Amino acid sequence: MKIHDTIAIIDFGGQYAHLIATKVRRQGVFAEIRQPEDPIEAFSGYKGIIISGSPSLSSHGEDADYTKEIYDLDIPILGFCFGHQEIAQHYGGKVIHGGREWGSSELQISNDHPLFSGLSSCETVWMSHFDSVAEIGPEFREIGVTLRPDGVAEHRYAAIASDSLRRYGFQFHPEVDSTENGDRMIANFLYEICQCSSSWSMDGFIEQKSADINDQVGDKSVFLLASGGVDSTVAAVMIGNAIGPDRLHLLHVDNGLMRKQESQNVLKLFKKLGLDDNLHFVDASDRFLAALSGVVDPETKRRIIGDTFIEVFEDQAEKIGIEEHLLGQGTIYPDTIESGGTKRSDTIKTHHNRVPAIENMIQQGKIIEPLVELYKTEVRELGELLGIPREALDRHPFPGPGLGVRLLCSSGDTHNTDLSNIQPSVSEISKQLGVSGMVLPIQSVGVKADLRAYEYPVLISGNVPWTDLIKAVSSLTSEVENINRCIWNLGLEIPKTARALAASATRERLDILRKADSIVMDSLKSHDLYHEIWQCPTVLLPIELDGRLGEMVIIRPIISERGMTAAPVELPTHLLSELKGRILDLQGVSSLALDITSKPPATIEWE
Ligand code: XMP
Repeated sequence: MKIHDTIAIIDFGGQYAHLIATKVRRQGVFAEIRQPEDPIEAFSGYKGIIISGSPSLSSHGEDADYTKEIYDLDIPILGFCFGHQEIAQHYGGKVIHGGREWGSSELQISNDHPLFSGLSSCETVWMSHFDSVAEIGPEFREIGVTLRPDGVAEHRYAAIASDSLRRYGFQFHPEVDSTENGDRMIANFLYEICQCSSSWSMDGFIEQKSADINDQVGDKSVFLLASGGVDSTVAAVMIGNAIGPDRLHLLHVDNGLMRKQESQNVLKLFKKLGLDDNLHFVDASDRFLAALSGVVDPETKRRIIGDTFIEVFEDQAEKIGIEEHLLGQGTIYPDTIESGGTKRSDTIKTHHNRVPAIENMIQQGKIIEPLVELYKTEVRELGELLGIPREALDRHPFPGPGLGVRLLCSSGDTHNTDLSNIQPSVSEISKQLGVSGMVLPIQSVGVKADLRAYEYPVLISGNVPWTDLIKAVSSLTSEVENINRCIWNLGLEIPKTARALAASATRERLDILRKADSIVMDSLKSHDLYHEIWQCPTVLLPIELDGRLGEMVIIRPIISERGMTAAPVELPTHLLSELKGRILDLQGVSSLALDITSKPPATIEWE
């Protein structure tokens, strides 16, 4: 039973599917993401459906694999781009591979239709498609057409409608900001077509989720893994409020991969929030570090960390004597999409809360994750309504595997690392841009065209303005294959050699990284930059330059809204000098660089 009017968004793998959900919610109507192959029962109770865009081509997808029984439902359905083409095709229209359009187009609204109520007769919309609708079925009519600058109709069927069937399609993307009145079009669908009432708000979400949590938990208990980060803290308060504090147990695990003094601070925070009655703490750092010993592959490290969390959790549940329980997690939406959690998305990286052991538990209904539909911005908004102090909500995101994914490891064996085919192009492009570029013999994770890219970084040396550095990043990452990241050398000299050192996750290395990270956090706070920056990972790289003893530290300050994309931040010169002085002074560190890559092509974390 849905307490509020709700719209289902069918996610065909387009990165914008979640943006549609966010835009619908901002209009005061709740939206849930559904997968194309979800059984038809999963679509009951909705006031309407929106079908998203897709990287697939509709012209090739006559037997596209999804639950077509949705077309038998007596609720309005609106499709964007691929969704528009699927609707046209399903009802007797024809989709062809051709008629492609990119970027802004002028849409002439050919009929006075409720979907366009309140809009002018010509609207700027955003297009991005290879295929197009060439014919529509008998029950449809064209309600919008795009115009060329000379005013001639360039592409027919940019917007179609069948009011008798209550099926509609837009070739353009109203969910992106470049469609100037896209919000109004979405609102028209919600209110004029689906007759939704504007009852959803964060308060409404709390009410709906509390009912869902109670349904799912029944008379069991919840044992929640509480890292002290924003997501798990908000999840803890949500669940505690819903089922009552007695049946909520929190487990904080020191996995040895925490920041300096993190566990002490987290325990204090839970006390402050009044969540310390059933708060359990375990120092499992030996167990995690033993499991990670000698492991260098990032995905293997991520799996080990995720699996060890489960083992520790099960041991503790038995020790404390919590019998019938669900495992609670503060998983948010990007954790699922990046882990390849939807059928059509690639695994960029396996987030710790999406390892196979957890996926099995999800199948068995043993996991409870009240925030799984939300982005970080919404989690913070929710946390504020729940009365969680700002200082806890405004903390930078910190990944579940903690410093484990910021401590790069290497076998030190570079026999298979042949950079000779990349370095010449890197040197040439760098020279043209007035800098020097050196490929480092270690890979990190990135994301290119929605796919995982495990590639090499370029160390750029040279004292040039920020805009030139960013130009160099753009040229190097787009023109040279196998390069997904650039870092800017904060040392004085241009290095001549770089060597990968054999290194895995050890306490000694973690201590070095903890110290460097703590210096970066302190400096950002003391320069009043902490809140302007969305996240700032500090990374330890087992790379030795010019034979100087010690590893390389990388600082990665970024701004982002939802963690799905990110831009590098230029730090003031005096802050960089301060960081250089303090970090290069640490024992075990011999070089320092600033990561200046956007996401994509790099990810925020290095692993
Ligand atoms: P990436 O590195 O994929 O990061 O660009 C996007 C956001 O997700 C965080 N992140 C994680 N969070 N468990 C988490 O709880 C994980 O395994 C994980 N991996 C990355 C990352 O810190 C950033 O905020």
